[in-house]
Amino acid sequence: MKDKTKLVAIGRPHGRPHHPVNQPVERASTILFPTYDDFLDGAKNITYGRLGTSTHRVLQDAVTALEGGYETRLASSGLQACIAALLAFVEAGDHVLMTDAAYDPTRKFCEHFLKRFGVETTFYDPLLSKDEIAGLMKDNTKVIFAETPGSLTFEVQDIPALAAVAQDRSAKLVVDNTWSAGVYLKPIAHGAHVSLQAATKYLVGHSDCLLGTITSADEHTAQKIYYALLQLGSNVSADDAYLALRGMRSLSTRLVQHEENALALAKWLAKRPEIERVIHPAFKSCPGHQFWKRDFTGSTGLFSVVMKPVPLPALKVFFNAFNLFGMGFSWGGFESLALHVHPEKNRTATVWNEEGPTVRFHAGLEDIDDLKIDLERAFRAMDAAMK
Ligand SMILES: Cc1ncc(COP(=O)(O)O)c(C=O)c1O
Repeated sequence: MKDKTKLVAIGRPHGRPHHPVNQPVERASTILFPTYDDFLDGAKNITYGRLGTSTHRVLQDAVTALEGGYETRLASSGLQACIAALLAFVEAGDHVLMTDAAYDPTRKFCEHFLKRFGVETTFYDPLLSKDEIAGLMKDNTKVIFAETPGSLTFEVQDIPALAAVAQDRSAKLVVDNTWSAGVYLKPIAHGAHVSLQAATKYLVGHSDCLLGTITSADEHTAQKIYYALLQLGSNVSADDAYLALRGMRSLSTRLVQHEENALALAKWLAKRPEIERVIHPAFKSCPGHQFWKRDFTGSTGLFSVVMKPVPLPALKVFFNAFNLFGMGFSWGGFESLALHVHPEKNRTATVWNEEGPTVRFHAGLEDIDDLKIDLERAFRAMDAAMK
């Protein structure tokens, strides 16, 4: 089945008469064992609400089918998915290689929490070659963590090269695959051990709940992830699992529109006199574009621009002038967003020394002409404020 069909067909409650189209929400803390033998058996991990109900299991299976993995587990947020996928594989004295363009809270988890527990992190330039990455590996390196593209600065990483290094050195390659929604990139097919997502973004798709997914490539990896989440006491509500499953039904259609709007906006912005450069993985000028072209089958709604230098009061006027673009963290929902971001604050292996502000856009599902009118208004207001 193609992804488009999978997203409609997977996780449906077939097999009983008069079944609803959708998997119902099954809420539970206590689960009753039918017999003493079932109790002794542990009934295949169906023992307690924290281990999930049928709603969770159906979502897990749907994400596994989409990502092309062995098994998926759910986390309470995208950040918890990143954290669990690190904790699953390290112990005191180990070493982690983390992309310098990582989502900042993932980075902070390494800098503070892992450090306190005796795990050392080296941040690496996401554009390093295979040999350069191999040169950073230590005997105790247990995880190479990639985020492709980086969610502020959009460097696209060479996943097959990272996978080859990880496999060579018995480490795990963990990929934050949130940008592609698991549709446009299949890290596991390229050799990654784990592909995780902040399902909060495109899978849920409606900006109304937080959720993480962790898909493992094989049984051994899946066991480690399972125990990490179990021992962290992670829990996902059945209602939120239902929302993600519901969001997935329209995912392929939404992504087509996100992609089309983002490309149209990025091209339009590239011609504006206020813009220094556009950073979009589908543009030749994007760092690592060749890997996007080789490994991805499409692009989504998130990209950045570097503006020409502008005084802060005029930048404030720009952001305050929007009617449609909201100013908010997160992305992947149906709505357009614009956010002033500060990549320069969150890197150590690379330098971000752009003179003008970096603005990250999320192209939502609105009509493209209305979005351009909104941007035009904001630029006009900003230009007037500079006179
Ligand atoms: C690339 C990436 N990974 C992980 C996360 C964390 O997801 P959540 O907000 O669900 O914790 C985010 C959130 O913005 C993100 O952009």
